[in-house]
Amino acid sequence: MFLELKNNFLSVGKRRIDTLIDQARVNIFSVETDGLFFDYSKTNIDLETRSKLLELVINTDVISKRDAMFSGKKINLSEDRAVLHTALRKSTGQVFVDGEDVIPAVLKTRTRMFDFSDDVQTGKVSGQGGKYTDVVNIGIGGSDLGPAMAYLALKPYKKGPKCHYVSNIDGAHIHDVLSDLNPETTLVIVASKTFTTIETLTNAKTAFKWMAESVLEPGTQFVALSSSKEKTAEFGIPNSQLFGFEDWVGGRYSLWGPIGLSLVIAIGKEHFSNFLNGAQSMDLHFQNTEKSQNLPIIMALVGIWHAQICGYTTRAILPYEQRLSRLPAYLQQLEMESNGKGVGIEGKDLLTKSGPIVWGEPGTNGQHAFYQLIHQGTHIVPCEFMIAKQGHEAELKHHHQLLQANCLAQSQALMSGRNIEKARSMADSLGFLGTELEQQARQRVFEGNRPSTTLVYPKLTPFCLGQIIAMYEHRVFVEGVILGINSFDQWGVELGKELATELAPVLEGSNSATHYDLSTQNLVSKLSSK
Ligand code: F6P
Repeated sequence: MFLELKNNFLSVGKRRIDTLIDQARVNIFSVETDGLFFDYSKTNIDLETRSKLLELVINTDVISKRDAMFSGKKINLSEDRAVLHTALRKSTGQVFVDGEDVIPAVLKTRTRMFDFSDDVQTGKVSGQGGKYTDVVNIGIGGSDLGPAMAYLALKPYKKGPKCHYVSNIDGAHIHDVLSDLNPETTLVIVASKTFTTIETLTNAKTAFKWMAESVLEPGTQFVALSSSKEKTAEFGIPNSQLFGFEDWVGGRYSLWGPIGLSLVIAIGKEHFSNFLNGAQSMDLHFQNTEKSQNLPIIMALVGIWHAQICGYTTRAILPYEQRLSRLPAYLQQLEMESNGKGVGIEGKDLLTKSGPIVWGEPGTNGQHAFYQLIHQGTHIVPCEFMIAKQGHEAELKHHHQLLQANCLAQSQALMSGRNIEKARSMADSLGFLGTELEQQARQRVFEGNRPSTTLVYPKLTPFCLGQIIAMYEHRVFVEGVILGINSFDQWGVELGKELATELAPVLEGSNSATHYDLSTQNLVSKLSSK
């Protein structure tokens, strides 16, 4: 089927997208669910291409694999684990892993999280100096990006203390965060699924030392979020201050449970419940909707078309929403750590390219930075625009209208471009003549025909954010299944971790560097010289 699709691309790839647009296309090449509207009419996919793409869903058994994931089957084969972030957003029902229903424990932990966040908000749980004013979440990757992204996204719903996120092992990060805080009114959350991650443990020890300088019992102002009771106890955080979760929650899928604690403290349990409800609404849509109208499936097929069939190596995430400024970073981990693999689930080389490079920035800022390349560079970058019908700042409605205008203008310009005749007449009206006119005109040509999709959502509420994140999670799953990838392991990050552990004593001067390659030895000596 990939070959057939590639042949299809060879015959249709160069045709103009704008010549395809008519009312029927606008209706057919869009999907709507629970307030979200996804438009993919500005791509080169036509009905024939779409039906071939939909065949991929059948041929690769996406539907039964989806059902296997939701039902708790151990689909993460290399780690022999179930994949059940979807169970973290459930409030009823049963899901069995190894013969045990996991939902009662999920609900129990959620209640503990809600009670704890209520107590932090009211001051019942407090620091040595009284009610907590600040929360520092120390974690990295999935233990940081999700809560940090969502905290920023849901700022209008914040009612608890201020949250700060420390991830980098660069001492500058923790230094700059802690130096503005009062240890006596600061709660520290150490978030690490494995509780072995060097960055997080190093930052947690530094935070403990900082706290111990002014607080008599610093340990009482620490909580841990982890799936390892033993490791958190070894670190000195008692079980009563641990919010645990199981190994069937992948790090980059963990925002919905204990890893979301800072978010619950910030926005409160009602809003967090709405966030979970939004994700559940997307789960139900993904589980129950026919494939041609199924939003995550369609997004995945558009992604496969662009990355594996057309061969466009990157994908830009362009939310026209300042509060989604950490979404591209969050999706980089979600998509690239999940599907950035050249070996398939059965241990064989992939027959296609792996998932694409994901990057992006909010609009309109990106327009004044990298859109030049998107419009006129030699790389084709499929752009994924996102825009809300409504902003939160009612008094600044004109800002939102300008934001919307910019978003629509970009996708329109990418598709339609500007031809040489128009460019010549512009150069002419600017007074250029002869060869200079031609030179000036050529540089004002936009070839257009560059694909994009647009997601329109009502307003960035907790419910809506939950829908959007779950939509991307399921899209990653579908793309992974079609490519034959296990989207839930991450062996590619191990080697660097191992080598860093070996290199640390070399840089400290306690081990020799002589067994390293000459380039590394040279860099060690440059970094170590006085
Ligand atoms: O970078 C690899 C990784 O294992 C991610 O998958 C994970 O989100 C991150 O490190 C942090 O891991 P942990 O939560 O176990 O500290």
